[in-house]
Amino acid sequence: MSKPNKPWGGRFSQPTDAFMESFSASIHYDSRLYRQDIQGSMAHCRMLARQGIIAEAEADLIVSGLARVKVEIEEGRLPFRDDQEDIHMHVENRLRELIGPVAGKLHTARSRNDQVATDLRLWLREEVDAIRDAILTLQRILLTLAEAHIETIMPGFTHLQNAQPITFGHHLMAYFEMLDRDRQRFAEARKRINQLPLGAAALAGTPYPIDREWVAKELNFDGICRNSLDAVSDRDFVIETAASCALVMTHLSRFSEELILWSSQAFGFVELSDAFATGSSIMPQKKNPDAPELVRGKSGRVTGHLMGLLTLMKGLPLSYNRDMQEDKEAIFDIIETVRGCLKVFAGMLAEIRIHRTAMASAAKVGFTTATDLADYLARQGIPFRKAHEVSGRLVRLCVESGRTLEQLSLAEMQAADPRIGPEVVEVLAVTASVNARKVTGGTAFSTVRTAIETARKRLDESSESGKIPTKPQPGS
Ligand code: ARG
Repeated sequence: MSKPNKPWGGRFSQPTDAFMESFSASIHYDSRLYRQDIQGSMAHCRMLARQGIIAEAEADLIVSGLARVKVEIEEGRLPFRDDQEDIHMHVENRLRELIGPVAGKLHTARSRNDQVATDLRLWLREEVDAIRDAILTLQRILLTLAEAHIETIMPGFTHLQNAQPITFGHHLMAYFEMLDRDRQRFAEARKRINQLPLGAAALAGTPYPIDREWVAKELNFDGICRNSLDAVSDRDFVIETAASCALVMTHLSRFSEELILWSSQAFGFVELSDAFATGSSIMPQKKNPDAPELVRGKSGRVTGHLMGLLTLMKGLPLSYNRDMQEDKEAIFDIIETVRGCLKVFAGMLAEIRIHRTAMASAAKVGFTTATDLADYLARQGIPFRKAHEVSGRLVRLCVESGRTLEQLSLAEMQAADPRIGPEVVEVLAVTASVNARKVTGGTAFSTVRTAIETARKRLDESSESGKIPTKPQPGS
């Protein structure tokens, strides 16, 4: 309850209520913005001097003081206190202790409203780049795994019922594509994150002759927020990133669900390495797929935060409202969760064991080539609808007599339709079914091989371009 410490103390005659102080404090989570806060302050300060708003010597003092504050925070030497509310005030107060009243000039032509928006954008930009890299890593692991399983046949499902034979490589490439779009979404979001709010001050702009473009360049922003009210009052860049996170988590969650099913005894398609599974405290035989289960579970958290953020913003009048401090815990947790999940997935997939024979035998169960039989009949000139019916009748005969399509005699088949010839056996094999699907995007070995090759080329190209190198921080 130290009234003199508050930057707004002049207007107040009463100290802040003790509980209100801790209720209002965000330092225990926004301290993670310290680096961006200092980076932004240094650029702002340099600009003030360039524009003649403060003296060069004053700017030198402030910038070197900020560098010292940074070291103190990094070495854990700056105690965080609720009565100093947030990271912005901690940095400024410590600066004042170190260099004296000239520290007060740093906040010229600036408000915490444009400051916090700047910090958050700087922070999120780095995190989004880290996520893009993590997705890329996971995609490369998927490519390697898919390449090893171009010819591994498994059942493809609809409604979780065996549908048609596909290859495991093809299945993996479906996730590759989802992740590719996820990565694009983050790249898109980054463009809108990377606009500088600083200069909006509290809400209306500032009367000082500042140079926003110079600050934007100095901090590697692509441009500046064009409207001061918008600059301090929207968090759409946070929500958009959160939505991209919720989508990548949804993809990982579906993949997790499949890995969990596939590692069950009923499927037996895959086995996680010991490093990514855990045992049971009571059942000695158990090996549980905890890594994918946790990812599936955590996807709920991320989606929940997205809803929280949308709800947080939907009723707010322009411009800044303190409600917006609530954006941080959500986005911090989202980013940490997504990064953790991408990391665990990469590790888990790099070590996963695939049981090819179990997959291949399962692919034959459930008359998965009944469509191929219908297609064969259609090639004999029978309209597809009719061909479907004939094939369906033969499936029923199999169900009733406990056989597979391949076990039916030619005579039995010809009884259903005389146009069926002995070459039908080739059509009924799962490998033939897979390799018949050479259409672009299909599951044939050769098609998947091409898909993997072009995907790898695309990845190599996209990892070379698209990223703005982050300049080393001034003063560090
Ligand atoms: N901790 C605040 C936040 O995260 C910083 C901005 C405070 N601005 C204000 N007018 N109280 O939003």
